[in-house]
Amino acid sequence: MSSGVPTIAAPTFEQHHDGFGIGNACPRLSWRFTSIAKDWKQSGYDLEVRRKDGKTESYHVEGSQSVLAPWPSQPLESREQASVRVRSFQDGSEVIATEWSDWAVVEAGLLNKEDWTAEIISAAATAHDDGPLRPVRLRKTFTIPPKRDIQKSRLYITCLGIYEAYINGVRVGDHVMAPGWTSYHHRLNYQTFDVAPLLREGENVISVEIAEGWYATRLLWKEGRRYTYGKDLALLSQLEISFGDDDKIMTIPSDTTWKRHDSAILRSELYDGEVYDMREETEDWHSPGSTGATQNDAVDSWTNVTFATFPQKTQLVASDAPPVRVIEEVAPVNIFKSPAGKTLIDFGQNLVGRVHVTSLKKPAGHKVTFQHAEVLENGELGIRPLRCAKALNTVISSGAELKDWYPHFTFQGFRYMQVDGWSPEDESDPLTEDKIKVQLLHTDLKRTGWFSCSNEKVNKLHNNALWSMRGNFLSIPTDCPQRDERLGWTGDIQVFGPSAGFLYNTTGMLGNWLEDLSVDQEDANSIPPVIIPNVLKDDWKDTPQAAWCDVTVLLPWTLYKSSQDAEILRRQYPSMVSWLKKGLPRGSDGLWESNHWKLGDWLDPAAPPEAPDRCLTDATLVADAYLVYVTGIVSEICTIIGLADDHKMWAADYAKVKETFQRKYITPSGLVMSDTQTAYALALVFSLYENKSQVSYAAQRLARLVKIAAFRVSCGFVGTPLITHALSRTANPDLAYRMLLEEGCPSWLYPVSMGATTMWERWDSMLPDGTINPGSMTSFNHYALGSVVNWLHEVVAGISPLEPGWKKILVRPVPGGDLTTAEAKFESPYGEVKSSWVAKSGVFMLSLVIPPNSTAWVVMPDKQSTDAGSVEEEKGFEIGSGKHDFMCKWENVGWPPKALYVGWPGLNPDSAA
Ligand code: BGC
Repeated sequence: MSSGVPTIAAPTFEQHHDGFGIGNACPRLSWRFTSIAKDWKQSGYDLEVRRKDGKTESYHVEGSQSVLAPWPSQPLESREQASVRVRSFQDGSEVIATEWSDWAVVEAGLLNKEDWTAEIISAAATAHDDGPLRPVRLRKTFTIPPKRDIQKSRLYITCLGIYEAYINGVRVGDHVMAPGWTSYHHRLNYQTFDVAPLLREGENVISVEIAEGWYATRLLWKEGRRYTYGKDLALLSQLEISFGDDDKIMTIPSDTTWKRHDSAILRSELYDGEVYDMREETEDWHSPGSTGATQNDAVDSWTNVTFATFPQKTQLVASDAPPVRVIEEVAPVNIFKSPAGKTLIDFGQNLVGRVHVTSLKKPAGHKVTFQHAEVLENGELGIRPLRCAKALNTVISSGAELKDWYPHFTFQGFRYMQVDGWSPEDESDPLTEDKIKVQLLHTDLKRTGWFSCSNEKVNKLHNNALWSMRGNFLSIPTDCPQRDERLGWTGDIQVFGPSAGFLYNTTGMLGNWLEDLSVDQEDANSIPPVIIPNVLKDDWKDTPQAAWCDVTVLLPWTLYKSSQDAEILRRQYPSMVSWLKKGLPRGSDGLWESNHWKLGDWLDPAAPPEAPDRCLTDATLVADAYLVYVTGIVSEICTIIGLADDHKMWAADYAKVKETFQRKYITPSGLVMSDTQTAYALALVFSLYENKSQVSYAAQRLARLVKIAAFRVSCGFVGTPLITHALSRTANPDLAYRMLLEEGCPSWLYPVSMGATTMWERWDSMLPDGTINPGSMTSFNHYALGSVVNWLHEVVAGISPLEPGWKKILVRPVPGGDLTTAEAKFESPYGEVKSSWVAKSGVFMLSLVIPPNSTAWVVMPDKQSTDAGSVEEEKGFEIGSGKHDFMCKWENVGWPPKALYVGWPGLNPDSAA
């Protein structure tokens, strides 16, 4: 309900997901408005901060800032907790204030190096002959004196590898694959957990299981490489306990009083999966009183540990990014037999996670395996696209019942699973649907964006992009979650970043990843490695690539536009400059040196399966278009972060490279040297033209190319996010809609028509006859081509940030195609933004929700430019916060547009009909 005064949510801290264990002593504060209020503009705010001495400090600040407002109080000390609440004012004839928000609690982590008294200890993991390290269990018993009131207890923990920790047999927290993947030689995240409820008087035991994780597992394709960061898995753990009657903190650090034992998990690899041998297990190895011995052990076979070496240059970091968690459980939709008689399970959705067996009882020594794949081919698992990743989990039974088992230190990308050694026909303990599930895993980002419309296939496309995001946001933004890669390819997130940032709040996670980019770039002669964290081998060393390396500029820019956080720009500015000034190889004209090998418009549908870089659009043109565009953005960034001289320098450079580009590639009439969809999309969306008449001519030429292509997409990674924008910006939205709704291959709806549940890497990852594309690089879960959903959000539903952080919103819905309704909702930093429209019987009706303390600029369809290139001159109007309804006349004239046949008329299929 609209009312005069909005309600307000408890403040949040920096870009941190929950404010607990934060690494910043002066966290900036943001608060969102949680109800609708008409024309609410904040003119000031009150903050109350309760510090550790119990005193409440009050602050009154004049101003409209409700996003990332400065920390008003003294800096937090390490471990210190403070509570904050806020209320917001609007100045009218009398001062109107919101109610106070709830209190939000922030707690600092260990802010100084000296706070760490624990030392890192070696797990002394042993390697199997073929390389993988056997996971290790570490434990330590300690005593809490009787009759002490435990006031607070925190576990600060990380490892070289990945870990799960327990106190008295109870799992600490719910993080999966912690501490996540960072550039370990430079940055290692640690986690903070509240463990007071797990402790008790008398004997306690803390235990940690460590596996190789990204630190040491085999990474990269073909034979890959092991031990990228090191071979010595190690633990750094500091358990602190404070008692009510004493100021001193009792600390249980990792040290040489801990003991180690090989895990019952024999191996656990990212690509190849996990092997669990129940016969090696002792159920209560993490409980007090247990010796931790296995069936085969002599009693007390735990051995002493030694100190390990902490990587010299590595900083311990408390990242703002949320952890990876089990997000939901997915049940099988079908258990069936393949033509070859194999037991297969269909989970109904291509996803990322791990198998969860609720119960299994087989004779001792019996082996059950779970093989994963994304698709079926000829009715059997299609495992060829996994290349050298086995994606296989194994359980070896001890004869006892196995309850609630899942692989702990690996994940797979799959929809189908083949189970060997366990089937529905087994006489004893048959496989049934209630005994097997999947735990869905991803970084636990906050969902912020939704879209739907009247066309179910478009909804499915949107949903597939959403699922590909879920599958590929696991600690880092990855390219594909199933085969022997799962790497942070920079080009993929560069193009999908704007879509991702609408669907979920990615600022904390991607901001953290960008810090890895900066440090890895420094180690690579200023050339941002094309995967971050960088684990590339020498054959990919120092490979400058447009669109991929341009992530240095474009991702911070994307994050800034959605979050308003200029600190990210400031932090990343040196990386931008070092890319553009030192890393990028230039010819004498200041544009790209043309002899460098380039990925170009990667995966252009016309490129042969085995050579995805052989695109129709000249790869140097692609690179130069990006160079001009990012130079312009860097000059804008300088203004935002207050670097006036640098702004001047970049603005001059921008004018120069743009002019050089125009001379090199654009004819006076407006034709571009590569006469392709991607070339025009780049030139139009990146504003590379000199004048309006060229823009109109280019618009016509692009329209013609799209009609000649019969509305099939002929773009790869670079053109795909831009082509629909290029058409709708140049008064050809009907062509963009027609491309969107095309189902023949290559198109966005072709995979939908083939039953896809995620976005595919190639336009035809699966061929029309149901066989898998012969290219070795064929994933069925790749978000890059899903970047078209940004057009659904910004153009179809019509909402985008006009000013950073959505302080001012552009509402410019463009109806079309066969859509009669569309709707998008976004949880902006100010509050909920919503646009929904109905177009029928010649009328367009728009309903909007604009959050308090922001405004919107609305351009209705009847005022949208029909003259290519003059969108800026359209007649719009400004509205304040609240609920609004508008209407205008609108007819879908000329729908559907016709394809253009260029050839001998007798061969035109249309004229034959
Ligand atoms: C990845 C891509 C990536 C490309 C660049 C592929 O193997 O999956 O998405 O951007 O390589 O070479």
